[in-house]
Amino acid sequence: MNTEKSLAVIDLGGQYCHMISRRLRDLNVWSDIVDSDVSIEKLGHYAGVILSGGPRSVNEDGAPTVDSRILELGIPILGICYGHQLLAKMLGGDVSAGATEYGPASLSIIDNKELFEGANSDIQVWMSHTDSVNRLPVGAKELARTPSCKNAAYSDPERKVYGVQFHPEVVHSEFGADLLENFARRICRIRSKEEIGAQVEHLVESIRNTVGEASVFFFVSGGVDSTVAFALCARALPKERLLGVYVDTGLMRKRETEEFKSMLQEKGLSERLLVRDESHRFLSALKGTYDPEEKRRIIGRLFVDVQREAMREYGINEGDWLLGQGTIYPDTIESGGTAGKAAVIKTHHNRCDEIRTLIEEGRVIEPLAEFYKDEVRHLGETLGVDRQLTQRWPFPGPGLAIRCLCNNGSGSIAKRFILPEQFSDYEAVDVPIRSVGVQGDSRTYAHPIAIRGPLDFEKLQKISSAVCNMDKLHNRVIYLVSGRMGDLSSGRIKSDVFLDESRITTLRDADCIAREVMERHQLMESVWQFPVVLIPLSFSDGESIVLRPVNSQDGMTANFARLNATVLSEIAETILEQLNSVDAVFLDISDKPPATIEWE
Ligand code: XMP
Repeated sequence: MNTEKSLAVIDLGGQYCHMISRRLRDLNVWSDIVDSDVSIEKLGHYAGVILSGGPRSVNEDGAPTVDSRILELGIPILGICYGHQLLAKMLGGDVSAGATEYGPASLSIIDNKELFEGANSDIQVWMSHTDSVNRLPVGAKELARTPSCKNAAYSDPERKVYGVQFHPEVVHSEFGADLLENFARRICRIRSKEEIGAQVEHLVESIRNTVGEASVFFFVSGGVDSTVAFALCARALPKERLLGVYVDTGLMRKRETEEFKSMLQEKGLSERLLVRDESHRFLSALKGTYDPEEKRRIIGRLFVDVQREAMREYGINEGDWLLGQGTIYPDTIESGGTAGKAAVIKTHHNRCDEIRTLIEEGRVIEPLAEFYKDEVRHLGETLGVDRQLTQRWPFPGPGLAIRCLCNNGSGSIAKRFILPEQFSDYEAVDVPIRSVGVQGDSRTYAHPIAIRGPLDFEKLQKISSAVCNMDKLHNRVIYLVSGRMGDLSSGRIKSDVFLDESRITTLRDADCIAREVMERHQLMESVWQFPVVLIPLSFSDGESIVLRPVNSQDGMTANFARLNATVLSEIAETILEQLNSVDAVFLDISDKPPATIEWE
């Protein structure tokens, strides 16, 4: 690659670092992600440098930094979030803890030249930070601010240094892609192109090179990623050197395995793709587990065991085969798997220790590891995979296991929670169970707040942001749609509840109801993903269901979906009518960040 026409993105451990590169790719601008100890000589060949966000504070001992000679290279530098703070500090500005902002923030543009050329005076951007640039370095000028964060963007055109506190690389930042384009084209003066069709050929070529004379064994889940990865391998390798296995873990959605089997037959693939029922094995291994990371470890390990056994049974010599996986980029970044600085949000099951060892031994092939979901869908369509499959709602490898919250403790009670005064028409309680979130690029594992009141999405969004911006004690807000109960504060957490057949069945049935109602209203493509979650919050004898429809482009950031009120109520009432073991149905009204899409 001609680095003079591309950008270097320095990875300082941000959750969205790789997305910067991806967003640039959308703009046909090529970039390399490099570690922060990259040599100055190498950096000097690029047309510009971007410093990513990161989970640390620039004032902490040992926080990631870059060689200060970068400022003498004379090439443009753009700092994003942590990178923005780091540049300000390196140039003599002051960075300290200020008002935290997680999620949407309203940015007023003070100077719309260069970086903000073409922007409206007020735009919605996506923030995730605790520190702020409180004093700019001498020579830098403020370009934009939010109500609680001054210096939210600055520039020092003479030194060619630029900084933005928000994340232009996430789709929820209005003008984000334009800002990156302005940086690449106006400031760094780059012109280049890369087409998706060319990428298919490039990927096929690279699979052939990696696999050499070996063969590939694949676990296919019936979802988009593994199917597209499998289809790529099918294009690259002769039939006899590729074998796919679909494992029914007992944690699948209703009718999923049956539908998958008939699809295989229809497409004449049943010979290359085999189905195994391992449900008893997975469910018994998960008995008594409540920690989400532990659940993923167990599932990841079992997949490796099943692989070994299956290969033995099918007479395959392990040494001659590589394990193929449909891992996509967000799986790696949220597992803390890039340059070692990104915080672990979730260790995806395909990044468990056993698989990491196989990766180190060069025994794993992941053709999609650099891609995001929407790019994978494009690749799939280019490869001729059915749109019905490429547009499916994503379903995580560990399946319903991470949507069924467990509790190993005693039953605690929901406590009243005081909302800011302007939301006094809502009742609120702190629910003493924990779910995963991502705040300021770090993992949180905190209580949700449950609220009840009018279904006014604008207000719900404000409550959700206000609650999660207060501190890191709460990372999620759920809204009561319907339930059999008195006050929310009559809720208690069921003690000692784990993954068992009956809870999984309740969850599977609720998930199926949500899907059927959405199908009936032809709303399947109106949301990006729709997890349904079972939580041990009880109001009489049962538990609660949380609906988690979200809109996203790539799973890295997301908005909670504003489902039509009639549809929402139809889903909730049908669940309550048909499932005796459900006391209440909530809607998750949290964005990502501060919450993650899945609860675990
Ligand atoms: P989160 O919950 O991290 O989810 O916001 C982002 C996307 O990743 C999916 N997800 C997983 N997929 N194994 C997977 O294959 C996992 O362990 C896993 N955890 C989350 C999630 O469904 C969403 O699309």
